[in-house]
Amino acid sequence: MENFKKYLTKKASVVEKGLAKHIKQIKNAPQIVIDAMAYSLNAGGKRVRPILLMAAAEAFGLKNADVMPAACAVEMLHTYSLIHDDLPSMDNDDLRRGKPTNHKIFGEDLALLAGDSLLTYAFQTVLKNGEIKSVGYEKAAKAAYALSYYGGVSGMIGGQVADVYAEGILEGKSKRAALLTATKYFKGKSPKYFLLPAEAKEVSASALLTYIHKNKTGALITAAVEMGALLAGVKDNDLKNIRKYAEAIGFAFQVVDDILDVTATKKQLGKSNSDAANKKLTYATLYGIEESKKAALKSLKQANAALSALKTADKTKLKPLYDMAEFIVARSY
Ligand code: IPE
Ligand code: IPE
Ligand code: MG
Ligand code: MG
Ligand code: MG
Repeated sequence: MENFKKYLTKKASVVEKGLAKHIKQIKNAPQIVIDAMAYSLNAGGKRVRPILLMAAAEAFGLKNADVMPAACAVEMLHTYSLIHDDLPSMDNDDLRRGKPTNHKIFGEDLALLAGDSLLTYAFQTVLKNGEIKSVGYEKAAKAAYALSYYGGVSGMIGGQVADVYAEGILEGKSKRAALLTATKYFKGKSPKYFLLPAEAKEVSASALLTYIHKNKTGALITAAVEMGALLAGVKDNDLKNIRKYAEAIGFAFQVVDDILDVTATKKQLGKSNSDAANKKLTYATLYGIEESKKAALKSLKQANAALSALKTADKTKLKPLYDMAEFIVARSY
C-alpha cells in the first residue's frame, strides 16, 4: 500500500500539470471565473478518477500521454460536482480539499458559474483527445459520450437528485419532497415520484440507497475507467468486464465515503462531515459501520473477479487497477 501511495502521488502530479495546461488555454473568459475554476481544481484531491482512466488505458496498450485530455476532463467534471454539492442549497459545506468551499470564497453566483464552466470545459477538453494520433476523433467521441451519459441525469446527477430528496427519509419524511408535494403542481403524488426512476422494480430505503450510491458516485468512476478503455479501443466482453470492475469500486467508494463521514475527522478528510446534520440516507445510517465495511469488502472481491476475467488486457499492467480497488476500500481519507 505504501508503494501504491507513492504511485498515486506521482500520477496526481502528472494530472495536475495537465490541468494547469488546459486552464491556461482558456480564451476570452473573465479572469474571475477562471480563478474560481482553478481554485477548486488546484486545491488538491486524490485524483482517483483521472488516475483510474490512465491506468485502464495503460492496461489496454496506451501511454498516459495519449489520454491526458480525457483524464483532465473527468477531473474537471468531478470538481464541478463537488463545487455544486457543497452549495448551501445542496449539502451546505464550508470545507473542501482542505480549503474553504468555492462559494465561501467566490460567492454562490460564481461558484455555480465556475461549476458550469468546469462541466462544459470538460467536454471541450475530452474532445481534444481526438487530436492525439494514437486515439483519433472516433474514440474521443465515444469517451465524450460515456462522460456525458455517466456524468448526466442517467448517472451522477440522477444520484444527486435522489440523494437530496432522500434527506430525512429514515425519520419517515423527506423535507424537500414534502415541500414539493405541498405545491399545487405536485399535489397527490407520492415521494416515490421524486426519488426513483420510473423503471425501478423495488421501492424501499435499501433500493433507494443502492440507486444513490451507484449513481451519485459509482457512475463517474465508471465513466473514468470506461473512457480509458474506450480510448484504447476495447470492445465487447472486456468492455463489460472492465465496467463491472468500475461499478464495484465505484459503489465501494461511496460506502467508504459514508463510513469516513462518521469515523474520520474534518482535518483528516479535508472536508466537512455533514451527513448526520443533513439527515442523509447513507450506508452507515441504514446498516451501521460493521455491515458497511463488509459491503465494501464484498465489492472489492467483485472488482478483483472482474479484473481476472479480462482477456485482452496486458496482464503485467493490471497491478495499479488491483491496488486502486484495495486502496478505495482501505483508505482513511
Ligand atoms: C468526494 O470524492 C465525493 C464523492 C464522490 C464521495 P473524492 O473523495 O474523490 O474527492 P477528492 O477528489 O479526493 O477531493
Ligand atoms: C457527493 O457525495 C457525490 C458527488 C459530489 C457527486 P457526498 O455529498 O457524500 O460527497 P462529500 O462527502 O461531500 O465529498
Ligand atoms: Mg452530497
Ligand atoms: Mg457532500
Ligand atoms: Mg460524503
